[in-house]
Amino acid sequence: MKKVLITGATGGLGSAVAHYLKNKSLEQPIAVLVRDGKSEKALKFKEEGFEIRVADYNDPSALTEAFTGIDILYFVSGSDIAKRDVQHKNVVEAAKSAGIDHILYTSVSLNHLSPEAPLYGAMKIHMDTEDWIKAAGLKYTFLRHNLYSEIIPMFLGPKEQLMASKVVYLPTGEGKTAFVPREELAEIGANVLADAAIHENKIYELNGTDKVTFAQVAKYLSEITGEKISYISPEVREFESTMKANGVPAEYIGMMTIFGLGIADGVFDAPNSDLKKLLGRSSLPMVKFLSQIYK
Ligand SMILES: NC(=O)c1ccc[n+]([C@@H]2O[C@H](COP(=O)([O-])OP(=O)(O)OC[C@H]3O[C@@H](n4cnc5c(N)ncnc54)[C@H](OP(=O)(O)O)[C@@H]3O)[C@@H](O)[C@H]2O)c1
Repeated sequence: MKKVLITGATGGLGSAVAHYLKNKSLEQPIAVLVRDGKSEKALKFKEEGFEIRVADYNDPSALTEAFTGIDILYFVSGSDIAKRDVQHKNVVEAAKSAGIDHILYTSVSLNHLSPEAPLYGAMKIHMDTEDWIKAAGLKYTFLRHNLYSEIIPMFLGPKEQLMASKVVYLPTGEGKTAFVPREELAEIGANVLADAAIHENKIYELNGTDKVTFAQVAKYLSEITGEKISYISPEVREFESTMKANGVPAEYIGMMTIFGLGIADGVFDAPNSDLKKLLGRSSLPMVKFLSQIYK
């Protein structure tokens, strides 16, 4: 039986993939990669019967050791945008030297993205990582994720905040996005891992069934809350100064701006999706996803 290692296991996606796979009761040995083997989350994984491997993406020799004896790697992209370049190279090189056979990589699904786009810098790493995995001669499955639906409440804040402002205020124009709940992407990851051989050297575009604009999000939120929620798409400068005046940290404003402009430009308005085939159903309708948070 091939041994699987799931990275990013202490995070939202990796943790859910590990648990979905375990719940399939395949008797497939499952290891998880953590940065701190003594953390509460690592100890909980151990208690649940997962094997623990410890390494940081910044540490090539620890990665090679952690990957030894592993056949299939579920590689969760790093969360430190400034350092992902080196980290992802380390992971691919360590996978190659440790003799890993097949990498599933959590990439991104893009409709289009020009090198001049503000989002290009943050997204290019996914294209590069796909190239490095192929160049290393490893079997691959690229799980190209659209934006998580969870990004919407991250941008809009909790219900109390929305009820105070009654406005969706983002520079997203009329751009549509095929958001997907992170949980569904995790379920798909586990489905693919459970039958990995049939997914070798495949690329999957994982886009949600509902494609929505933020004007539609505001409309759904009005229905859900029973209050009139309006949508305003400001000019970038106005957006940045309003956010600054409201005490939003600069780093957060920067992220919302580049993603907002990308959304406005249709970067995430993906034309095709392999989601239904791999999930076995359509993704949760956006209005239902929002109801879980704002009802
Ligand atoms: N498609 C989208 O909309 C979207 C949105 C957000 C993020 N993402 C990407 O998807 C990934 C997974 O999402 P998520 O929600 O699960 O993120 P998350 O909850 O922040 O989890 C990130 C995981 O990566 C681990 N990690 C980060 N840096 C590492 C390093 N240097 N070495 C080893 N492990 C490291 C973290 O470990 P620790 O617990 O030790 O920090 C954590 O387990 C993110 O890392 C990011 O690349 C995509």
